[in-house]
Amino acid sequence: MQIIPLTGGLGAEIQGADIRSTSSFQQIFEAFKDHSVIVIRNQTDITPDDHIAFAQRFGPINVNRFFKPVEGHPQIATVLKEPDQTEAVGEGWHTDHSYDDEPAMGSILRAIEVPPIGGDTLFVSMGMAYEALSTPMKRFLDGLSAWHSSRHVFGAEIAESEAATSGRLGNAQNATQDVLHPVVIRHPLSGRKGIYVNPVFTTRIEGLTQTESDALLQMLYAHCQQPEFHCRVRWNAGDITLWDNRATWHKAINDYHGYRRYMHRITVEGCPLQGC
Ligand code: SIN
Repeated sequence: MQIIPLTGGLGAEIQGADIRSTSSFQQIFEAFKDHSVIVIRNQTDITPDDHIAFAQRFGPINVNRFFKPVEGHPQIATVLKEPDQTEAVGEGWHTDHSYDDEPAMGSILRAIEVPPIGGDTLFVSMGMAYEALSTPMKRFLDGLSAWHSSRHVFGAEIAESEAATSGRLGNAQNATQDVLHPVVIRHPLSGRKGIYVNPVFTTRIEGLTQTESDALLQMLYAHCQQPEFHCRVRWNAGDITLWDNRATWHKAINDYHGYRRYMHRITVEGCPLQGC
C-alpha cells in the first residue's frame, strides 16, 4: 500500500489497498489520523455490504435522518445529482452532523458514477486554519461557544428546494437539533486544536450580539477559505474518500451540469468533543 500526501498539510491518496482486507485496516486508520482526508483509489468491485463492513471498523454507523437511504441498505445515504438537476448535495462549506451533541467522527463517500469532468470535493484543515490565527485572536476564540442547528438546513424552510421536492432529502419533521459546541475544539484523537464553526450549520456565537457574531463568523469563514489550508479530491468511479468531521470542512463542487454524479455515503458515530 502506498500513501501519497495530496498537499503540504491536508489529505493523502492511498494506492494498492483493498478496503475488504482486515489486515490493512490499521495502516488506513493511521493514515486517516495523520492526514484527516484519505482517498482510497480503485475500490471498483466492492458492494454496499463491503462499504458497511469497512465503516464499522471505525465505529458504529450513524444513520442519517434526512438523506434518502439506499434501497435495502438504510445505513447508506444517497448522494446524487441527476443530469436535469441544478443543486448538488453539500455545496456549501460544512462539517457533517455538527448539529448533533456528539458530532460524527467521519464520513466515507464511495463514488459509483462520476461526471467526465468536475464534481470534485474540496476540504479545509481546521487545525491549519486555527494555527494560522494570531495569538490574541486564538485567546479570544478559545473561550467562546457557538450554536449549531439542523433546522434551517433540513427543516420545513427547504420544502420548496429541489433536494426536498426530488426526494433526495426528507423527514423535515426530524430537523429539531440545536446544540452548543466550543468554537475551538481539541481533536478527540490527536489533541490538535482546530476551529469548529462552519457556514452551513453554525447559527451564532453565544453571548455576542448578532452583529458581533455575524462579523466574527464571516471573518473566520474568509480566513478558512485560504487555499493554503485546502486539498482537492478528483474522483474516479470506484474511489472511496474518508474524512474526519472534527478536523475538516468540505464542499461538493457543482460544476458538472448535464451529467449524473452518484455516490454512497456512510457516516460513522463520533464521541463527545472533549475526548473519546
Ligand atoms: C457531502 O457533503 O457529504 C457530499 C460531498 C460530495 O458529494 O462531494
